[in-house]
Amino acid sequence: MIDARVTIHPDLVVGPVNRRLFGSFVEHLGRCVYDGIYEPGHPTADEHGFRSDVVGLVRELGVTTVRYPGGNFVSGYRWEDGVGPREQRPRRLDLAWHSTETNEIGLDEFAGWLKRVDAELMYAVNLGTRGVLDALAVLEYANIRSGTTLSDARVANGHPEPHDIRVWCLGNEMDGPWQLGHGTAAEYARIAAQTASAMRQVDPDLELVVCGSSGAQMPTFGEWERVVLEATYDDVDYISCHAYYEPDGDDYGSFLASAVDMDRFIEEVAATADHVKARKHSDKTMRISFDEWNVWYMTRYNEVDKITDVQTWPVAPRLLEDSYSVMDAVVFGNLLISLLRHADRVTAASLAQLVNVIAPIMTEPGGPAWRQTTFFPFSITSRLARGSSLDLTIQSPTYDTAQHGEAALVDAVATHDAQTGEIAVFAVNRSLTEEAAFHIDTGALGAVEVVSATSLHDEDIHAANTLADPERVAPRENSSVRIGAEGIGITLPPVSWTAISLRTQAAAA
Ligand code: AHR
Repeated sequence: MIDARVTIHPDLVVGPVNRRLFGSFVEHLGRCVYDGIYEPGHPTADEHGFRSDVVGLVRELGVTTVRYPGGNFVSGYRWEDGVGPREQRPRRLDLAWHSTETNEIGLDEFAGWLKRVDAELMYAVNLGTRGVLDALAVLEYANIRSGTTLSDARVANGHPEPHDIRVWCLGNEMDGPWQLGHGTAAEYARIAAQTASAMRQVDPDLELVVCGSSGAQMPTFGEWERVVLEATYDDVDYISCHAYYEPDGDDYGSFLASAVDMDRFIEEVAATADHVKARKHSDKTMRISFDEWNVWYMTRYNEVDKITDVQTWPVAPRLLEDSYSVMDAVVFGNLLISLLRHADRVTAASLAQLVNVIAPIMTEPGGPAWRQTTFFPFSITSRLARGSSLDLTIQSPTYDTAQHGEAALVDAVATHDAQTGEIAVFAVNRSLTEEAAFHIDTGALGAVEVVSATSLHDEDIHAANTLADPERVAPRENSSVRIGAEGIGITLPPVSWTAISLRTQAAAA
C-alpha cells in the first residue's frame, strides 16, 4: 500500500481558475463537424441539422470555449467559402486531412451552434497560406455591426448581431513542417506581429494567441517561443502550447506520468516568456493558452488512417477515432491536474477535440452518441474546480520512468472557492499494482464535510466504452472516504482518477 498525503491551506493560492481552462476544439477534420455535431436527417437533428443528443452531451461535459475551425485545416482554409447561401458554397480539397470540405458548415452556423451549447467561440485565422488582409476580413465580417461590405454581408446572410469573437488564434502550429505555409520562427513572428497589430487597430481589446510550439519535443522548442515573443510581446495576450501523449509500447509507467512532461512544458514556456518580459522591461506577464491537449494514439494514425491516394478525397472520413481506455482517462485527468496546478499562467485551454476525432464524445450516423472514458474527468473537473487553485504540499513515494525520470506515484491538485467555501481535490494513483492510502490534511480549513468522492477505475485498465457497450466504464462513488481527527482519508485504487468534493463550515454558514 502506498502512503501519500497532501496538506491544504486556503491561503496558498496559485491563481484563479479561469473558466476558459475548460475549453475544447472543433476542427473540420474527419467526423468532428459532419456526422458529429452536424447530421441533418439524424432523428435528434434540430432545424439547422445539429444533433440535439450531441448538444446535450457537450453541455453535460461543461465546455466553456471552443476553438474553431482548426487545427491544421485552418492553414488551407478560405473562411468566406463557409458563409452565404449553402448551394453556392464551393467544395474544396482539404490538404491537411486529405479530405473534401463541403463548406456546409462555416462561421455563422458554428456560432449559432455555440449558443445552443452555451460556449464561447475562439477563432483561428489562416496565417499559413493567407495573412493580414484575410484576418482583417474575417474580423470585420464577424465583429463589426454593419455599414461595411463584409459586415453587411453577414447581416444579409441572416445574422444581424455581430458574433463578437473576443479570442483569436494567429494561425496554428506554424512551427510544424507539416503545416501549410510553415516557415522559420522569424518568418512567422513577422506575419503574426503584423496581423496582431492590424487586428488591434480594429479593436484594441481583442485577446490574441500567438503560436508557440506544437510540442516540447520540437527541435525549435524554446528558441521558437523566444523569437516569436520578441516580435509580438506587446500585441498578444497568450502564447499557445500543444501536447499529445500516448504509451510507448507497453511502457505504461511513463505514460501514466505524462503530466510530469506537461508540468515541465508549461514551466519552460513561462520561463522563456519571462525572459522576453525582462528584456523588454515589460509589466505584462504573458499567459499560456494550452489550446491542444489530449491522449492521442498518433502512431496508430500514422500507420493506419492516413489517406494518401491522389484521387481519393472523401467527405468526413473516419479519422483519428481513438477509443479511450480507463488508463487513458487517468492520464487525461492528470493532465487536467497539471493545467489547474498552473492556473496562474495557463488561463485558457482546449481539449482536442470534441466529437469523434480524439474526442470525449462519439457518434454513430443515424445512431447513438456516447461518452468515452475521458468524458468523466473533464465533466467532473469542469463542474467542481471553482475559485482558486491551491499550492499543495504533496508527499508521495516516487518511481522511475524511462521517459520522464522520477515521478510521484500519487499526484493531486485542489481548488477552493472562497465565496462558497467549497473545496475540490483531484488525485491520481499512477501505480499499476498498488492501492494508495491518501491522506488530506484539512486542519487549516476547520471543520469539513465530504460532499462526494468519485473514482474512475476498473480491474481492466484497457476497458473502454464502445458503440456495442457504451456504458461499460463510468465513475463510481468511492466509499472508502473517511473523516478523521487530522483530515480526510481515502483509498485510491491502482491506475485511478478521483475527485473529492468538500464543504467547509464557511459554506454551511
Ligand atoms: O488535433 C489534431 C491536430 O493536431 C490538429 O489539427 C493540429 O493542430 C495538431 O497537430
